[in-house]
Order: sequence, then structure tokens, then C-alpha cells
Amino acid sequence: MSDNHLENSQIMKDYQWFHRHPELGYEEMETTAYIKEALHEAGIETLPLPSARITGVIAVIRGKGESAGSDSEPVVALRTDIDGLPIEEMTNVSYKSLYPGRMHACGHDFHMALVLQAARLLQQTKEDWSGTVKVIFQPAEELPGGAKEMVETGLLEDVDAYVGLHTTPGRPSGAIGIRSGGLMAAVDRFEVTVSGRGCHGAAPHEGIDVIPVICQIVTALQTIVSRQVDPFAPAVLSVTAVSAGNTWNVIPSEGSFCGTVRSFSPQVRAQIKERFYRLTEQLTDASGAECRIDWYEGPPAVINDEGLCKIAAKTATESGYQVYEPEQTMVGEDFSFYQEKQKGIFLRVGTGYDKPLHHAEFLADPAALEPTAEYLALLVKKILAEI
Ligand code: NI
Repeated sequence: MSDNHLENSQIMKDYQWFHRHPELGYEEMETTAYIKEALHEAGIETLPLPSARITGVIAVIRGKGESAGSDSEPVVALRTDIDGLPIEEMTNVSYKSLYPGRMHACGHDFHMALVLQAARLLQQTKEDWSGTVKVIFQPAEELPGGAKEMVETGLLEDVDAYVGLHTTPGRPSGAIGIRSGGLMAAVDRFEVTVSGRGCHGAAPHEGIDVIPVICQIVTALQTIVSRQVDPFAPAVLSVTAVSAGNTWNVIPSEGSFCGTVRSFSPQVRAQIKERFYRLTEQLTDASGAECRIDWYEGPPAVINDEGLCKIAAKTATESGYQVYEPEQTMVGEDFSFYQEKQKGIFLRVGTGYDKPLHHAEFLADPAALEPTAEYLALLVKKILAEI
């Protein structure tokens, strides 16, 4: 196809509009309005969300013979995230972000354009397939939390399988990345405050110095993954910020540190948390200090269903798409909240170029737009026919 064709296509217009208008998690008002209008123009029904939800859209497309409330036919959900990032864009494209300090640096603009176009293709061909497709335009993937709230709307109770995807820089444009089993890690976050007793820097015996306590804890935490977790189970524990005191001759009364834990298996996830609490509490206790641990459980690991991966690979190769197996990554993705409810597949899509995700110069190659949207529509139809 010619560049001219792509330049004038609806999907390119959508992509460029989304790229120009990045909005942060739960603030995606303009984006939501654009999506709703595009769906209505295509004759696609959108479902009313509970009133508390002001951003995001869930749309529904019914295949032949389907009426509202029918539960005999399968339901497949296709999901895109819609939020941007607080990053100042440093690219030179004509459709650069219009908003200072905000950018679609994680390709969610690309995902939206793909899923919107796939929805149009499904709507146009709805006499050719049976079942129901729910299209999820989900806010706030980056926080994360948007997926959980979409599940909690209750509008996805009848979904039998979920399909989601993510751009992948450095892979050939339009190549489809499929990996069965664990793809992305579970995400946990911790914040620890250690309280001792402040005193003069020249008289440490009069206080309880939290600085050596925090140093001991941070060092000991490094033995969890290296000495206590099965070496064949991927896991990461990173302490990413430490803070205590503000001058050279005062021993502070309090200090803190925070960081993240990444894992794939639920057993390892629980094991790390348990060891973390034990080491932190007991080392604090041994020094006479006190601690408070705040533990925030993020999304579980993205685990792809084997059967869906087979359908996805077959669909891709039969239609001439390049297929590859993406590496596992310790980065998280809240798509796993859908997979907690029902099986799902999270695909990677090659988008060329070399700047990584969340980089101020990140861009996805628009040449991947049309073929990938066609693939998504095809895949959804195949899954509906085969599950
Ligand atoms: Ni992303």
C-alpha cells in the first residue's frame, strides 16, 4: 500500500489525534469523548458505566443472530489502555503532543487506534460471525488500577476470553509476539518507616540510630531473592529510595525506604512478602527500633492461556504475519486483572524503531497500524468460533 493511502486512512487519523492529545490516568476526558464519537459514528453501541466512572468506554458488538442478554454464544473482550505519561515529548513528528509535560510514550495511542479500527472491522462484518465482542477502552493502566475498576463495573461478567496487546519497539513492524504462560510479572510495592530515637551525632549511645538499622535491613533484603527463592523462579527485589537525616551532627529519629518486588509464581510472591516482613521486623526489633511496613499489592503476573496462544499463532501464520516469541519481562501490566477472572492472551506487536517504552523520543511505526488492526479483528472472530 502507498504511504499516501496510510496517511489518509482513518486509523492514521485516529492514531495521530490520540498522539496529540495525551491525558494522564483517570483524566482521559477528551480521549473518552473522541472514542465514544468514533464508535457511535461506526454504529457501535456503548454501555453506560457506573456514574463514578468518568473516563473509559466499554462498547459491545453483536454478531449475527445475537440479541442483548443472550447467553448461548461466546463473548470475547478486546482491550486497550488509553492513558498517557507525564513526560515531555522530544520527537519531531508533525503530530507531536499538544500538551507540555504529557506524552503517549508507552504506545497506548497506538493500541487505541488499533482496537478502534478492529471494532469497526468487526462491526462491518458482523453478519459473518456469531457471538459477542466487548471492546474495553480502559483508563489508568500506568497507575495501575484501571483494569480492576473495569472488572468491577460488572459489565464483563459474561466474558469468556480476553485479548490485549502492547507495542514492542525494536521488533519488526507488524510482527506478532505470542508467548504461552508467564509473560509479565506481578508487581508489589513497599514503603518502610523505621523509628528510633534521635540524639547528638557525638553521643549515639543516648539514642537509637535508625541509619545502621536501615542499612542492615536493605542488605539483608538482598538475600531473599539470592538465597531463599528457587533460582528457577524469576524474582526481583529492588530498594529504590532510602532517606534519613538532614545534617552531619544529628542522628535522626526516623528514616524510610521504599521499592518494588516482581515475581511470576503466586507462591514465590507470597514467600518474598513473608520473608520481607520477617527480616525487616526482626532486624528492627533487634536494634530496639520500631518499624511500619506498608505493602501495596499491584497486578498479578500476566499468564497467557495456551489454547488462545495456539489460535493466535495459527491465525497469524495462516494470514502471513511474522510471529515471534517475546521474552518474559519483570515489568507489570494490569491486563492480568482480567486474566484473574477469565483466560486471556496478551500479545506483543512489533512497532519498529529503537527508543524504548517510556522514553521521551518513543514512537511506534504507523506502518504496523492497518495490518495489526486486521489481525486483531480476525483473531477475535477465530476465538469466537473456536472456544
Ligand atoms: Ni504501556
